[in-house]
Amino acid sequence: MGENNRGSTRRVVVLGTGGTIAGRASRAEDNIGYTAGEVGVAELLQGVDVPAGIALSAEQVAQVDSKDMSFALWQALARRCAHWLSEPDVAGVVVTHGTDTLEETAYFLQSVLSPAKPVVLTCAMRPASALMPDGPQNLRDAIAAAVTPGARGVVAVCAGTVHGAREVQKVHTYRLDAFDSGDAGPLAYVEEGALRMLREWPQACGATPLFERVVGAVSWPRVEILLSHAEARGAIVDALVAERVQGAPDAAEGIVLAATGNGTLHHALEAAALRAQAAGIAVVRATRCAQGRILAKPGDALRDAGALTPVKARIELALELLSAAAPAQREQGWRDRGASKG
Ligand code: SIN
Repeated sequence: MGENNRGSTRRVVVLGTGGTIAGRASRAEDNIGYTAGEVGVAELLQGVDVPAGIALSAEQVAQVDSKDMSFALWQALARRCAHWLSEPDVAGVVVTHGTDTLEETAYFLQSVLSPAKPVVLTCAMRPASALMPDGPQNLRDAIAAAVTPGARGVVAVCAGTVHGAREVQKVHTYRLDAFDSGDAGPLAYVEEGALRMLREWPQACGATPLFERVVGAVSWPRVEILLSHAEARGAIVDALVAERVQGAPDAAEGIVLAATGNGTLHHALEAAALRAQAAGIAVVRATRCAQGRILAKPGDALRDAGALTPVKARIELALELLSAAAPAQREQGWRDRGASKG
């Protein structure tokens, strides 16, 4: 672990996981032909000025392209966040992360940690080797968010904007300002090292009962995402059911259907989903629309994920399967997720 500004009273711990923010290309002009997760987090912090009275520590938890994010890495990250947050002199944790699955990691960490101190994920759209990288400014802004009085919960900072873990979504392939919070809007803007708050910080209940179960789990329930679209079919769902009926190892326990509009499904996919549900697979519908929520209708035969995106609904369903909560609690859990995105 690297450390600077020793002797200060409060610390921000920066956990490196890879991503474009740690990416390197062979030419400084190249913003797309790079390898993610090459530059160590201690190196990323060199030259990043910190607010007065704050010391930075760095720890490399992983060095990956976040498209390859895994449950094992999420477990390690949750453990390291919990460890550092429990240190009295630590004001908050910053996580450097790839943009591609940042919203999933943010949602996961908020669900299992719900921390009373801030965990701030940050990233970059240009590699560290770029002529004009965006990572250093994002890191500065993330540190500013982490030391803001009253900060709590898991948030993401990119392009001067703070997003809540439940709402944040990557919405652009190239722009530096690649994230959005949908109808909910951002939590705050970072202006010259200070936050202009627009909304409340995320909920902070402290480590949830899920934490021990999640970090101790040897595997993560398999939950697949399937998209409803023109000409959709039920064959993949039926194959998942067949695997389960045959007792295949690691058979799917859950399916998230990325549904059209207000949670509708192609009739062939819907029929297969009902067969899957009858066979004991947990099935949830999440809208594939970028904004808004599914408004439940009387008589809906398949549960809906409210405002959760399909990738976040997948995490929610996997956590539910892992926690094996009573059905009534499960239902309430999904309703409580209504604030996300919409
Ligand atoms: C990644 O997600 O690790 C690569 C892409 C990025 O960070 O923008």
